[in-house]
Amino acid sequence: MTMYDILTKKKHGEELRAEEIRFFVEGYTAERIPDYQASALMMAICLNGMTAEETAALTDAMAHSGDTVDLSRFGTLSADKHSTGGVGDKTSLIVAPIVAALGGKVTKMSGRGLGHTGGTVDKLESIPGFRTTLSPAEFLEQVETVGMAVIGQSGDLAPADKKLYALRDVTATVDSIPLIASSIMSKKLAAGSQNIVLDVKVGSGAFMKTPEDAVKLAEEMVRIGNMCGRRTAALITDMNAPLGAAVGNAVELQEAVGVLRGEVQGDLRDVCVALATQMLILIFGWEETEAEARVNAVLQDGTALAKMREWVVAQGGDGGYIDDPTRFHRSAHTFTVLSPTDGYIAAMDTEAIGRVAVLLGAGRENKEDTIDHGAGILLCKKSGDAVRKGDPLCVLYTEREYVLPEASSNYVKALSFTFERPAAHPLIYQTLR
Ligand code: URA
Repeated sequence: MTMYDILTKKKHGEELRAEEIRFFVEGYTAERIPDYQASALMMAICLNGMTAEETAALTDAMAHSGDTVDLSRFGTLSADKHSTGGVGDKTSLIVAPIVAALGGKVTKMSGRGLGHTGGTVDKLESIPGFRTTLSPAEFLEQVETVGMAVIGQSGDLAPADKKLYALRDVTATVDSIPLIASSIMSKKLAAGSQNIVLDVKVGSGAFMKTPEDAVKLAEEMVRIGNMCGRRTAALITDMNAPLGAAVGNAVELQEAVGVLRGEVQGDLRDVCVALATQMLILIFGWEETEAEARVNAVLQDGTALAKMREWVVAQGGDGGYIDDPTRFHRSAHTFTVLSPTDGYIAAMDTEAIGRVAVLLGAGRENKEDTIDHGAGILLCKKSGDAVRKGDPLCVLYTEREYVLPEASSNYVKALSFTFERPAAHPLIYQTLR
């Protein structure tokens, strides 16, 4: 078997055998196959696609290219959730304590923000003392006693994906559904959970711009998960506007705590209830109405909030921030962006809003950049809302006072206005199980 033959086959649109895919993944991980041959294969896959069998073989080979986490001690209770990335997406911070409060064992490895999307690990580090690195033994012990742990990517999980993703990023080969599906699912499989809920975002702030593409990606991932013996479900949720009202790090944690305290309603709470409901259906086999009722009950009686506090303290964080979320830090300089017109907000370029947050210091352009946890945006109006000229659209927070004029102008440019009430986007397009 040679890489040259594999490339020739894929160039002609022929189906690769599982052994050929494993040969490539093992050879590339071990650096026997060079980047130029790997990038040629990625491009051929982008152009010619992959069959379901090829995608499953690629996922499996990448999932086994490094360490895997053994969660067998939790039986069928282990659960993980993954979002394909969005702006203002703080759902993990809310969903994980809800599911843990109801008896699930939530084992989550999260990423840092890069580009226009935020990352759970950065958000959690807004809590003084919070440790996002735990040893494998500490991680498992905490899941056992508290019911949940959230840490940064650790160990050598799916190293083949790490190398291939970096290569795809610079060779214009990210946007292929089989490559995205296998990349995400290889990490989820290596991370070990028996139950996986995927939140596939669609819209102006998401990878997938159309519901059709989002459904294709979700179907592919659910199929891979189920084929590999994991109970997997996916929700297609809207990312045509930031989720909730906060974009940043400390501001997002404050909003997440607000949902658990019963003080924040609306789209963010609704998506969290739907995600937690699907996780509980997978874990316990409950009927949807029962699962949803139990989720609402732990939100209303404070059990999920108490679980969040227990989790934060277990990971070294100051529980006082959960008791009094107004303590979360806000950057020193603020600016209120005003509406330039009367009318309705017709659409929001959510990716552009994510980039405004990065400009304010809440995110990073390069992996090495440091972030300002107090920087961010609090939205006063969202798509479909009526506005009068001079109404506040949002408040910006930053330590970089000099960026405020550009950030404010970019924020207004990210919105489009209309005199007619615009049609609303559904919040949850579809659920796949
Ligand atoms: N996220 C991933 O982990 N992989 C992709 O290919 C795209 C998004």
